[in-house]
Amino acid sequence: MATRRILGIETSCDETSAAVLRLEDGRPILDSLVILSQDVHRIFGGVVPELASREHLRTIGPVVDRALAEAGIGATQLDGIAVTAGPGLVGALLVGLMYGKGLAYGLGRPLIGIHHHEGHLFAPTLEDPRLAPPFVALLVSGGHTLLLDVEAWGRYRLLGQTQDDAAGEAFDKVGTLLGLSYPAGAAIERLAATGTPGRFTFPRPMLKQGWHFSFSGLKTAVLRAVRASDDLERDRADIARDFQDAAIDVLVEKTARATLELGRDTAVLAGGVACNRALAQALSARLGSAARVATASPRLNTDNAAMIAAAGAWRLGLGERSEFTLEPFDSGPLPGLLRD
Ligand code: KG4
Ligand code: ZN
Repeated sequence: MATRRILGIETSCDETSAAVLRLEDGRPILDSLVILSQDVHRIFGGVVPELASREHLRTIGPVVDRALAEAGIGATQLDGIAVTAGPGLVGALLVGLMYGKGLAYGLGRPLIGIHHHEGHLFAPTLEDPRLAPPFVALLVSGGHTLLLDVEAWGRYRLLGQTQDDAAGEAFDKVGTLLGLSYPAGAAIERLAATGTPGRFTFPRPMLKQGWHFSFSGLKTAVLRAVRASDDLERDRADIARDFQDAAIDVLVEKTARATLELGRDTAVLAGGVACNRALAQALSARLGSAARVATASPRLNTDNAAMIAAAGAWRLGLGERSEFTLEPFDSGPLPGLLRD
C-alpha cells in the first residue's frame, strides 16, 4: 500500500497553521491540524500586517513541530511540502513560504506553492473524499467573494465576484457597527438567530442581475439603521437578522441560479463565511432535490493548513513542483482560471 505524507503550511493572514495529510493509496487522512489564531489583532478591529508577520515568525517553528508530533512522525518521513504562496499579506506569506522552502531544501523533498483559494476549494474533500468536480462553488471569505464553475480540479471558470466589499468583510464591518469584536461573522450569526426578521428593509444589491456581487450598499443601509436607532441595545439582534437575511438572499440566489443553469448536481460552499449554517440551510432549501450542498466543517472552512495540504497533494501527484525562487503574491488569479 502506497503511503505518502504531505505537510501543509498556511500563513496568508492571521492564522499560523500546519497540517500533516497522509494519503493511503490516494485516500486522504488528516493526521494532524494545528491552527494558532492571532489574538493580537482584536484590539485593532482588523488585521495589522506588520504584527501578523511578527506573530507568524514567532510561532511557525512550534506550530510545524506540533503538527509533526501530533501526526507521530519526524520531518524526514514527509514526502512533500505544500505552502500558501498567495493571495494574502505578503509579509505574512513570506514567513510560511521561507519556512517551507527551508524544510523542503533541507530534506530534499518537493515544494509546491498553493493558491489560497484553491486550498479553500479542496477543504470539503477532506471530510467527503468522494466530492469531485464538476460543481459550482461559492468562495466567501474575509477577503474574497467568488462564484466559480469548477469544471475539473485545476479548471476554474470565474462566473462572478464582488465589485466592492467581500461577503465576510461586510459581516465584519456590520459587526463593528453593532459593537461586536473582529472577526464578527460567527457572532452576527448567533445574534441574528435571536432576532425578529422583517423590522428593517435592507437592499439586496444586484439580486437578479448577472453573476457579480456588491455589498457596500447593504453595509451603508445598516449604518443608517444603526444611526437612526434610538435604542441600539433593543434593535441589535433584529438589525443583525435582517442584514444576514439580505446577504444570504443574494449569495443563495446567484449560487443556486448558476448551479441550475449549468446543470451541476453539487454546490460547494467554501471559505470562512461558509461556516454560516443559515447560509447552507438557505441554499439547500433553494436547490431542493436538484443539487446537494457540500461544505466542510467550520475548522476546515476558515483558514487552515489541511486544505493547503489537500490541494498540494493533488498538484504534487501530477508531478508539479515549485522552484525555490517562488515568491509570495498579494493578489492574482487561480491557477487554471478559464476566461470566456
Ligand atoms: O476564509 P477565512 O478564514 O479568511 C480569509 O481568507 O479571509 O474567512 C474569514 C471570514 C471573516 O470575515 C469572518 O467574519 C467570516 O469569515 N465568518 C463568518 C462566519 N464565521 C466566519 N461569516 C458569517 N457567518 C459565520 N458563521
Ligand atoms: Zn481564506
